[in-house]
Amino acid sequence: MDHFLYRDGQLMAEDVAIAQIAAEVGTPFYVYSSATLLRHFKLFDEALAWTDHLVCFAMKSLSNQAVLTLLGDAGAGMDVVSGGEYRRARAAGISGDRIVFSGIGKTREEMRIALEGGIRQFNVESEPEMEALSDVAVGLGVQAPITVRVNPDVDAKTHAKISTGKKEDKFGIPISRAREVYAMAAALPGLKVIGIDVHIGSQLTELEPFRLAYRKVAELTEQLRADGHEITRLDLGGGLGIPYARDNSAPPLPTDYGAMVQEEVGHLGCEIEIEPGRLISGNAGLLVAGVIYVKSGEGRKFLILDAAMNDLIRPAMYEAWHDIIPVVEPAPGHDFTPYDIVGPVCESGDTFAKERLMPTLSAGDLVGFRSAGAYGAVMSSEYNSRPLIPEVLVKGDQFAVIRRRPTFDEMINRDTIPEWL
Ligand code: LLP
Repeated sequence: MDHFLYRDGQLMAEDVAIAQIAAEVGTPFYVYSSATLLRHFKLFDEALAWTDHLVCFAMKSLSNQAVLTLLGDAGAGMDVVSGGEYRRARAAGISGDRIVFSGIGKTREEMRIALEGGIRQFNVESEPEMEALSDVAVGLGVQAPITVRVNPDVDAKTHAKISTGKKEDKFGIPISRAREVYAMAAALPGLKVIGIDVHIGSQLTELEPFRLAYRKVAELTEQLRADGHEITRLDLGGGLGIPYARDNSAPPLPTDYGAMVQEEVGHLGCEIEIEPGRLISGNAGLLVAGVIYVKSGEGRKFLILDAAMNDLIRPAMYEAWHDIIPVVEPAPGHDFTPYDIVGPVCESGDTFAKERLMPTLSAGDLVGFRSAGAYGAVMSSEYNSRPLIPEVLVKGDQFAVIRRRPTFDEMINRDTIPEWL
């Protein structure tokens, strides 16, 4: 459920008309609903209410400071994967004890920043990373709290580019080697083992792969405890999917997920952490674009938008489907036209949808891409020298630009021309 609905023929973001934001901000832009963000966070929070837990928002999905502050104030922790994300989370007022640091390639510098600034735990993914972290921690006179990310060799049944829990994926330590790796961790002076971490992929639309992975984690918890490790926290990753197309195959809800977690690991008495990104931010965001031209090609019509693959790369990168809807509600009984919906970037990959049946549109009309809150703005680039687009946050009848559109000079002047040229 989200808060982008038609009212009196106008697409709204909560109580603000999208057309009004477009008139003030210009297109294209991203707009987020604070009510949807909070609702989705709370669904997870409540789904784990049966135990001690922390919902750490995977801020890689949407990392604007205003969004982090909103979720942080509601009680969310953050899952970060770089020194940049760590700094962003801290700048948004999230305390270190609510930040978990994931990722396979943490540098010593990133480890130092997090250890000095405060960290809830590092999810470590390899022996060399453990050695480096122990070294940095000893140098600072502290112990780094860690979980080891295990790779359970489970098929997440999602797009190959976002599947992470098969043995051929680059993530985690093979679960078959976990006991020896934990023994090594326990022997390193700078590390304090506190738990186990697992994350098998993103946009999972079934609970079964999670269940298989969590069952393996539960078995491992018991083995590690028998080996003498104190396992008090399980980080179960993120990955629960969202409905991108409005058909009948909605993925399971956080409530179902929470109940499944309880069934699989509830008996262990561990504190539970999860790292959802997309389910919190995905349907909380729209990308709003304007139609520049409608062009007739050979046997097809192109809807040429002012947004492009540099603004939303998901269709080009993962063949992702986003519902695209007009900002003015089509009248009952209106005409449909099949359009190839494209951006102005000079490559054919800059195609958002092919032969998409849409209400007939004209130049100047506005459209919204639904489910664009996650992995939208954060994955954008300036390809074709197109400045990053603004982000807007709505709360009730208020809205604010939370990242403004840079000027062309700001973009261009980041380059320097050497004197010797
Ligand atoms: N935790 C870890 C360790 C992750 O790698 C990820 C996502 C998450 C949590 C959050 O997963 P989520 O709940 O958002 O599914 N750019 C791609 C998705 C990449 C996901 C990367 N890792 C897309 O647009 O579909």
